[in-house]
Amino acid sequence: MPPLTQTTAIPAFRKTGETFTSGAKTLPQRYLVSPEIFAKEQAVIFSTQWVCVGHLSQIAKAGDYFTSEVAGESLIIVRDQKATIRGFYNVCRHRGTRLCEDKGGQFRAIQCPYHAWTYGLDGRLLGAPHMDKVQGFDKAEHSLHAIELALWEGFIFVNLANEPTPLEEVFAPLTGKFTHWNLPKLRSAKRIEYDVRANWKLIFENYSECYHCPGVHPALSKLTPYDSAENDLCEGPFLGGFMPITKGHSLTMTGNACALPVGDIKGEDHARVFYYSIFPNMLLSMHPDYVMVHQVWPKSPERTLILCDWLFHPEAFDRPDFHPNDAIEFWDMTNRQDWHVCELSQQGIASRAYRPGPYSPRESIPAAWDREYLRYVG
Ligand code: FES
Ligand SMILES: [Fe+2]
Repeated sequence: MPPLTQTTAIPAFRKTGETFTSGAKTLPQRYLVSPEIFAKEQAVIFSTQWVCVGHLSQIAKAGDYFTSEVAGESLIIVRDQKATIRGFYNVCRHRGTRLCEDKGGQFRAIQCPYHAWTYGLDGRLLGAPHMDKVQGFDKAEHSLHAIELALWEGFIFVNLANEPTPLEEVFAPLTGKFTHWNLPKLRSAKRIEYDVRANWKLIFENYSECYHCPGVHPALSKLTPYDSAENDLCEGPFLGGFMPITKGHSLTMTGNACALPVGDIKGEDHARVFYYSIFPNMLLSMHPDYVMVHQVWPKSPERTLILCDWLFHPEAFDRPDFHPNDAIEFWDMTNRQDWHVCELSQQGIASRAYRPGPYSPRESIPAAWDREYLRYVG
């Protein structure tokens, strides 16, 4: 008998609009302004799904850590002495104190600022002054509360659910899809934080279409034709595809490549930029010479914190042809153009005159993103 072979259907790229169903409309106002819906999103999406909190290169050495806030919970993400990446609630087991106030840095151990209980990087309680005199006190029962953590292509994801669906299962549609982009090895050259006065869903809807590009992004539109998008992921939690880049150019201020290719990029992909949204909080933009990643963090119905990183090939950094600012400035400009129209949208949507408006065929992906979102929030 010949061995059974399993074939995975690779979705074909289809022009934006081909997957469009007429009649799709933008979300009703309450989804973009209501504190109750915001609280529900935090409970049923951000507290139960895998969310991206960063990249391995942020904590490259043992003891490196950063903190992250997920669904109102402060978390510590640390690389321990054995290079295992771990996540803990930022909560002391003595009287609950916030252990770490900084955004990131280096730990030898995690020490509480209140009464100096000290934890190892694996979360175990190592020292608790005077507690040896407390009858029945067992350090082993007072480790930091760990959170579920998993890696995907070098990105660190956490899940606050007690028994989450394993990340590999959720991310199965993306298995192997981006391997040649070398994502786990890349290093961030820059992070910019944006505080945007708009609902987080407007950020996703904006990212998922280029209908707005001719008016909003004149520089971008010169380098990548606004109506050229082709998508291979058109429904579900992962959405997107590519847009061609004008031959011989790169998405930078000068239009030239700014670094070594990030990975083993083949043929026509040298002239393509791939844009994918990864539900619920990650935007992954892969260019031939760099990768840009946005983390999207809802802070209130009308406010979103966006962390944007620019990642490059680790060997690009020491070379004379490394010009990261060429890419960073280009997208910082483009990002701010996007946030501005998202803020204007938020203002208009908050009006009593707002009613859901019809999506165009060029907005098939935002319509699909809304459908995915509504599966959770209803
Ligand atoms: S609250 Fe942390 S040591 Fe007392
Ligand atoms: Fe845009």
